[in-house]
Amino acid sequence: MKNILFLLGLLVCGCFVAMADTPVYLDETKPVEERIEDALNRMTLDEKIAVIHAQSKFSAAGVPRLGFPDLWTDDGPHGVRPDVLWDEWRQAGQTNDSCVAFPALTCLAASFDPSLARIYGESLGEEALYRDKDMILGPGVNIFRTPLNGRNFEYMGEDPYLASRMVVPYIQGLQSKGVSACVKHYCLNNDEEYRHQVNVIVSDRALREIYLPAFEAAVKEGGTWGLMGAYNLYKNEHNCHNEILLNNILKGEWGYDGVVVSDWGGAHDTDQAVKNGLDLEFGTWTDGLTMGKTNAYRSYFLADVYKKAILDGTYTTRELDEKVRRVLRLHFRTTMNRNKGVGFMCNEAHYATARKVAVGGIVLLKNDNNLLPMDVKASKKILVVGENAVKMMTVGGGSSSLKVQREVSPLDGIRNLVASINPTAIVEYQRGYVGDVTGELDGVSTGQNLNESRSPEQLIADAVAAAADADYVIFFGGLNKAPYQDCEGNDRKTYDLPYDQDKVISALAKANSRLVVVGISGNSFAMPWKGEVNAIVQGWFLGSEAGNALADVLTGVANPSGKLPFTWTKTLNDVGAHALNTYPGTWREGKDIIDEEYAEGVFVGYRWTDKKKITPEFAFGHGLSYTTFELSSLRASGDLSGENGTMTFTVNVKNTGSREGAEVVQLYVHDDKASVERPYKELKGFAKVSLKPGESKDVEISIDRRALSFWDETTNGWKVEPGKFTILVGNASDNLTLKTNIKIVK
Ligand code: GLC
Repeated sequence: MKNILFLLGLLVCGCFVAMADTPVYLDETKPVEERIEDALNRMTLDEKIAVIHAQSKFSAAGVPRLGFPDLWTDDGPHGVRPDVLWDEWRQAGQTNDSCVAFPALTCLAASFDPSLARIYGESLGEEALYRDKDMILGPGVNIFRTPLNGRNFEYMGEDPYLASRMVVPYIQGLQSKGVSACVKHYCLNNDEEYRHQVNVIVSDRALREIYLPAFEAAVKEGGTWGLMGAYNLYKNEHNCHNEILLNNILKGEWGYDGVVVSDWGGAHDTDQAVKNGLDLEFGTWTDGLTMGKTNAYRSYFLADVYKKAILDGTYTTRELDEKVRRVLRLHFRTTMNRNKGVGFMCNEAHYATARKVAVGGIVLLKNDNNLLPMDVKASKKILVVGENAVKMMTVGGGSSSLKVQREVSPLDGIRNLVASINPTAIVEYQRGYVGDVTGELDGVSTGQNLNESRSPEQLIADAVAAAADADYVIFFGGLNKAPYQDCEGNDRKTYDLPYDQDKVISALAKANSRLVVVGISGNSFAMPWKGEVNAIVQGWFLGSEAGNALADVLTGVANPSGKLPFTWTKTLNDVGAHALNTYPGTWREGKDIIDEEYAEGVFVGYRWTDKKKITPEFAFGHGLSYTTFELSSLRASGDLSGENGTMTFTVNVKNTGSREGAEVVQLYVHDDKASVERPYKELKGFAKVSLKPGESKDVEISIDRRALSFWDETTNGWKVEPGKFTILVGNASDNLTLKTNIKIVK
């Protein structure tokens, strides 16, 4: 017994000694803030400088002496980018870094389903963990202000409330795996042309009511650990070191405790980078004099030049320590987080997530004569036309480009599914037009040979001839990820479909009325042929499971339930930014700055078309189903008079059709009388509900006072003006069939 007690005593003492020797920063029983301070106090000046700027294209140094690993980031919002060589953009050519490509975020937004955003973030987090990435450079939530913006496909549409509700669960899902999000591009980065030189001029109301809410939600509700400054300027200061946006609003007002990361090359000045909120500088290829110098990481604005300025007394270490605290906090959340989940790469669960998000986001825009879903069993021949039926879309588009393990094309998806339903049916393919025959970015190649010898006229003639005896003609067109299409770095030059697709569509419509047009794009485009076509589907960039998801919807295996996350206007001139001719801006005399005034203010998207009484091609929130729904008995409960008051609106939704489906109930607020000009209505709530035929359910949507408020520029705060408000409820912004009034007394 004595021996046991003696041994126990030794063990306990040993533990105490061990505990006593464990430095606070490594003691997981201590509060993180204490651990941060302890680590900070142990770091040398060189170590502090090393952790606040890149050491390679996608990594920043850790603190080896203290056991902090290097911090690895990677693109992007839709999947984990292939590894690159130390200081290169080109892929390193590894054979173990192919990934699952999830649908582009415009598709996720179109699902109006926050639960899909959550599993999206979780799945992406698992892929990132497997690849040893500590921070994913996404999601992007810049508002769809112009349909020409090359990167709209990476973002979540035109409405700040929708983007806010969808970004929060994505971030929470991703970070639940111990991988940091990096919500981007903060902020006002709403087009790509001249993105490094645009100085955005915007009212405080529009900034607060339209362009900031998704970032605010990402910080306050999503708890994002990372945020990326945008390339552009606001009030003549680059956003990556911007006093108002970073110090005052983000860190001051919103209490953000994470890291501000520059966009790659987004830092331009050491003094501003030191003082105006930048914590972690990436990507700048500069020796202070020239751009493009490789391996110049010591030349970064927050590198040797900053260290020198501290040593010569220009700065104390006050700002440096604040940056390092944030970076250390990120390390404790990621690289030093022993509770991180386990990574998986390309597993079937991730493909299932990709397919579920894709199916949930596909939008059935038009379906005259119930042409869809296709009756495959009764079909002898199905003709598939268009380059976008075969062209890989996961390669290209800029930094969100991926090296996938697989990408099922629309043609293959249809072929596979039709064969399983009706092996006797023929699926024939016709090119229809030639668009972009390239297929490579940063060393990742699609391997496709899309070269075509036939003339455009011959291609159309061949497609028309093949269409004559088809039971269905499915045209896949739209845009692609080539420069000046849906691609980072530039914007589209026209609202029209490229490659003369309009001609092909009209010719096919004449040849066979059973034509379905499927748009593969992240943006809207002109549809001069809309009246000639019975069925139109918006197919987005759907990633690895694209073809399977599209086949599911087109054949009725899945019932479409997506809703447009942006207003699909007939023309560019129906968009505020273009009607007021403020895009892309005005070059400043003799400078390389272009001032872009957001003159439309808060009137973006449906807010603009409502104001101007413009009928769009398809409205924000529009999306059909293969069944029908009835919304009824709108009831209200609760009280919004107190500061933290809430009201709940209950609507009954009934599936009045013959097949299961999901509907998105949308709630908009109209301020009957305001001291400022407000949009006619604004989305302030939505809920997606699945119902079997004949089934009905009550759906509840709650709002708070913020839902009634506008940004008061005289007091610089949110304001609810007493008076009447009308609550409008329906299944699309142009189909609000129920309404009720509420009165706010104070
Ligand atoms: C790019 C993009 C940004 C991306 C970064 C790293 O310029 O603007 O979204 O994450 O550089 O590739």
